[in-house]
Amino acid sequence: MAKKNQTLGEFIIENQASFKYTSGELSRLINSIRLAAKVVNHEVNKAGLVDIIGAAGETNIQGEDQQKLDVYANDKFIQTLTNRNIVCGIASEEEDDFIVVNSQDENHQNKYVVLIDPLDGSSNIDVNVSVGTIFSIYRRVTPVGTPVKKEDFLQKGSEQVAAGYVVYGTSTMLVYTTGDGVNGFTLNPAIGTFYLSHPNMQFPLDGKIYSVNEGNYIHFPLGVKKYIKYCQEEEGDRPYTSRYIGSLVSDFHRNMIKGGIYMYPKSSKNEKGKLRLLYECNPMAFLAEQANGKASDGFARILDIQPTELHERVPFFCGSRNMVEKAEEFMREFSE
Ligand code: AHG
Ligand code: MN
Ligand code: MN
Repeated sequence: MAKKNQTLGEFIIENQASFKYTSGELSRLINSIRLAAKVVNHEVNKAGLVDIIGAAGETNIQGEDQQKLDVYANDKFIQTLTNRNIVCGIASEEEDDFIVVNSQDENHQNKYVVLIDPLDGSSNIDVNVSVGTIFSIYRRVTPVGTPVKKEDFLQKGSEQVAAGYVVYGTSTMLVYTTGDGVNGFTLNPAIGTFYLSHPNMQFPLDGKIYSVNEGNYIHFPLGVKKYIKYCQEEEGDRPYTSRYIGSLVSDFHRNMIKGGIYMYPKSSKNEKGKLRLLYECNPMAFLAEQANGKASDGFARILDIQPTELHERVPFFCGSRNMVEKAEEFMREFSE
């Protein structure tokens, strides 16, 4: 039972028994993500001091090379997950290929693979706007005792055993699901502890916020253009409010709390949209469904898509159920 003010550590221990497979491996894995999140949070918070401590590519006062934050976050998550020897493979938006975690002594006995977008919304870093980290966890499909293969990563989103994000915002929060609802934990930076602040998060069924990069309007499919016009019409509870941060994590987080829809459609410039199926859309879709929301490519369920490539992209419509269904209606009616 989720109790407010419980620490994330206590929550993980208490809920371990409710996981489908209870070896403790998944708990240890989420614990490592919690640890890496704290380290990255510390670095993200220093981003504004870049003029003082040196920009990426320069050498800082201690003689250390400064890294770009997305590279830093990538390294930290990979290091934490590999050092503690709890996953058999990692795929990251920042890496060309997946990483086989070399667990010589353990003889590849680990069961889980992790996929990450280490720093989402990275273009917002320089301007002090919220960014995030997204993670997605699967059980491997190849036999334990052998190195992981690509097929362990190319699983449908519906096979995820856990997924979540960290949002480095006005507060830092870790929000995740293991398939039994969505819970949000807020970091108390003074003592470095995450507390359960948002138990059982739910998308309102309807919302009044639409989030899309309208600068691309001219390139959108007709269905999206018509839906945007529908959002702007004066009728009933419309026009809706437009809110777009440009960090998927932050836009999703706000919409889940307030009710809304996030869209990154395909356009005449990029045929498959921009967002990555494995690192962004699948984990967010799993969270959305677990929070009574919906995620679609405009026509079909995101979690049913069979991936064929690690870095493939997909159009993404996600948020309050009734809003996503309405957008799908427009997509069907005006499909070109
Ligand atoms: P990333 O920083 O990991 O590359 O992801 C950025 C993504 C997503 O977070 C955001 O919603 C979207 O790109 C913004 O794209 P536009 O600038 O094209 O709107
Ligand atoms: Mn991203
Ligand atoms: Mn990224």
